[in-house]
Amino acid sequence: MSVNRIAHTGLAAKSRSAAEAAALIHDGMTVGMSGFTGSGYPKAVPLALADRITTAHAAGDSFRVKIWTGASTGPELDGALAKADGIEYRLPYNSDPIARERINAGQMHYFDMHLSQVAPMAWQGFLGELDVAVVEVTGITADGDLIPSASVGNNKTWIDRAKGVILEVNSWQNPALEGMHDIYYGTALPPHRQPIPLIRADQRIGQPTFRCDPAKVIAVVETDAPDRNAPFSPPDATAHAIAGHLLDFLSHEVRQGRLPASLLPLQSGVGNIANAVLTGLIDAPFHDMVAYTEVIQDGMLDLLDSGKLRMASATAFSLSPEAATRLNADMGRYRDKMLLRPQEISNHPELVRRLGCIAMNGLIEADIYGNVNSTHLMGSRIQNGIGGSGDFARNAYLSIFMTPSTAKGGKISAIVPHCSHVDHINQDVQVIVTEQGIADLRGLAPRQRATQIIARCAHPDYRPMLADYYARAQKGSFGLQSPMLPGEAFAWHQRYMETGTMRG
Ligand code: COA
Repeated sequence: MSVNRIAHTGLAAKSRSAAEAAALIHDGMTVGMSGFTGSGYPKAVPLALADRITTAHAAGDSFRVKIWTGASTGPELDGALAKADGIEYRLPYNSDPIARERINAGQMHYFDMHLSQVAPMAWQGFLGELDVAVVEVTGITADGDLIPSASVGNNKTWIDRAKGVILEVNSWQNPALEGMHDIYYGTALPPHRQPIPLIRADQRIGQPTFRCDPAKVIAVVETDAPDRNAPFSPPDATAHAIAGHLLDFLSHEVRQGRLPASLLPLQSGVGNIANAVLTGLIDAPFHDMVAYTEVIQDGMLDLLDSGKLRMASATAFSLSPEAATRLNADMGRYRDKMLLRPQEISNHPELVRRLGCIAMNGLIEADIYGNVNSTHLMGSRIQNGIGGSGDFARNAYLSIFMTPSTAKGGKISAIVPHCSHVDHINQDVQVIVTEQGIADLRGLAPRQRATQIIARCAHPDYRPMLADYYARAQKGSFGLQSPMLPGEAFAWHQRYMETGTMRG
């Protein structure tokens, strides 16, 4: 791409300040913003909108908007708008701490949905109309096509659905991103839906840019600001132990002939433990691996550098500042090994099932039967959201969940008698790994699962308590398929809320 980021003369003429663009957004509107796990989100218009909202509130006027995004964004978007109390309703995944507080204080509605379903549901229409899209791009071609930024997310859908489009052209994004994206335009609602023609993770099925009718663009704002790029903490002993158990398990599966030596397309969740597993794969005996995943994080970049990972398909970057610098310095080389797709494709259940992904995600708590809670603390307080974990877990070839066996300095057991909230039913959870060990639950009935999970995954401090509960449940239960004492199932959570620890 040329140095001129806005090559279309008609769109260059729509250049506005962030404040002028934000003035086009009004109380009660629904706004579709770009952004996915802290990359590719608009940075100037949301801040200017937050200022407008604060001014309106100071004058006693109401001003709140509904926000749709790809997934989590950054402090300039979710943080600033939540601080200004400007968000009435938000979807999907959020990890911003200020927005989280508002949600948990009941001041903001949050529709936490599967990430693959956001675009199709926006097309179904029940979510309402989309008034404005605010989308960060890397540049605009002479033909008016939009070169995507560091995330694709739902941008295609926002641009297509919105009545008006505001573009933020961010010169911080590397122009060499051009050509890395694969934007598929073949999706449709039933009864017109067709198979998605993707049979390999590295396959291109779309085009490198977004189409956008220039007449729909109501403002173009130029920015030069970095993505959120949060640092990862170096893996601690717990993360190393979890990664070690998981890698041993994968090696065993290869030896048994149940996985090829190149494994199957990897999906890796968010967070430090997932990152540690990816880093651990560098020294593991697998080669020629590919990733079909949601985000490319530091560990994925390291794996690519090691030559062990051949390519990665995702919808966004989620990098530390150091890794972002490394990527930017060598974008031309990485571009041939990476593909960024719309999240309805990166997370598509049909494709995850067809490719046979190995899904590796974090959890908040699992119960003795292997149901998993990924989202709610003590059953009611949202941490982040389900993200893409459901898209992958249900449809994967191998669905793995990993967690430290305790939280909050040992006051909470991650293995509980009964999950206080269930995101992934036991049928979607095949393997659970903690630093204590790994439980291979494939083919096991509930009581067989309970024995494995208590013995292999629970922390020794909580193992006797779980064994005691399970023994009593087998005597006092209504039935013995999945023994349970309903009056006691959430006693550990209640005790934590009352005393600050789950310990008896
Ligand atoms: N009870 C109460 N709090 C718990 C807990 C439990 N059982 N388990 C963890 N927590 C707390 C931690 O103490 C920590 O709190 P803090 O922020 O106050 O320190 C917080 O939850 C996050 O835990 P952490 O150990 O830092 O987890 P993580 O970074 O590995 O993330 C999830 C774990 C589950 C929150 C994260 O993986 C997630 O959001 N998953 C859902 C979405 C997803 O899987 N996306 C990927 C799909 S592609």
